[in-house]
Amino acid sequence: MKLEELKAKFLQTYGQMAQAGFFAPGRINLIGEHTDYNGGFVFPCAISFGNYCLVRRTDQAVIKLRSLNMSFEADIPLSELSMAISNEWVNYVIGVFAQFISRGLQITHGLEMLYYGDVPPGAGLSSSAAIEVVTAVAINTLFGFGIDGQSLALMCQKAEHDFAGVHCGIMDQFASAMSKQGHALFLNCDSLDYQLVPLELGDHKIVISNTNSPHKLDSGKYNERVAECRQAVTEMQKGKKFSFLAELDPDEFSTLEHLISDEKVRRRALHVVEETARTKDAVDALIKGDLSRFGKLMTASHKSLKENYEVTGFELDTMNEEALKNVGVLGSRMTGGGFGGCTVSIVHKDAMANFIENTGKNYRQKTGLTPQFYIAETQDGGKQIF
Ligand code: GLA
Repeated sequence: MKLEELKAKFLQTYGQMAQAGFFAPGRINLIGEHTDYNGGFVFPCAISFGNYCLVRRTDQAVIKLRSLNMSFEADIPLSELSMAISNEWVNYVIGVFAQFISRGLQITHGLEMLYYGDVPPGAGLSSSAAIEVVTAVAINTLFGFGIDGQSLALMCQKAEHDFAGVHCGIMDQFASAMSKQGHALFLNCDSLDYQLVPLELGDHKIVISNTNSPHKLDSGKYNERVAECRQAVTEMQKGKKFSFLAELDPDEFSTLEHLISDEKVRRRALHVVEETARTKDAVDALIKGDLSRFGKLMTASHKSLKENYEVTGFELDTMNEEALKNVGVLGSRMTGGGFGGCTVSIVHKDAMANFIENTGKNYRQKTGLTPQFYIAETQDGGKQIF
């Protein structure tokens, strides 16, 4: 939807013109999966799909929330802004307001807010982080709070923990807040040090393949993985003082893994340790222009997510296998939390049409599902657009 159309929708919804507009992007992750809550590295980039928020200041003590994607509407008195009201999309917004309020910052007047997201639903491209970050940037700007982008990302992560019940790492919110067009973000999720690495892929492009799988990442499965990683840390702490799985290199891990009582938990930890090493290698390969190595590491990441972390499933694995059968594909892997959602593949531009046709046809035949393909365009992190 064009910005002019969005402005017209705002006028239609509230009877007055919007005074400001904000956008925050969704993300793909190139490599470094399920490492963020283990103090490891991630390498995401923001994409052109995201969430818009148009606003107008009012003198009423109410925040009005409407969305062009969802029918649920809410008018929330300022005095109730920290309370979750239901299992609805507005909780992501309220969760973010609550973070500002818990810092002692005052929401001094009402707002009319209209949201619109173009992130494909359920695709695992961080539509919720985009809603949180666009809200945080809007509040921060409109009330002049002057909070830096990193802190906004942390507040959005907390909103997700407290209001959506997902004990997520920092990757999605950080990518949505801090990315830069033309770059991927190499983030140390322990220290939050980061580097914006130019995404120079030469004649290659990143293709996002949406499985449209009915299986979704839910908070239960996600939180279970988080807990398994904690168990691995606790058991291995009998052999060494450390806090996060990602602090261990593969050699060190091999001297401690016998302390893990459960074979499944051992494989979860192995994934995290190896994925952390792979992510460092992959960024190094990209910086050196070794795309072929970068692609191989992506493919190895998928294998580990399938066999050790067990967060792929039939649809993601089929998409991955079919993608890799094509010429001109340097690597492919699931992206995001897993179970359903998307893969990302590095594909030569001349092989693109065949890639989409063959992968699409074979995937449809094997799964009965119709996939979608998008060529990833990178994007800046959350910002004001007018
Ligand atoms: C989800 C979470 C992120 C991250 C990924 C897996 O997207 O929100 O914090 O853990 O899964 O890498």
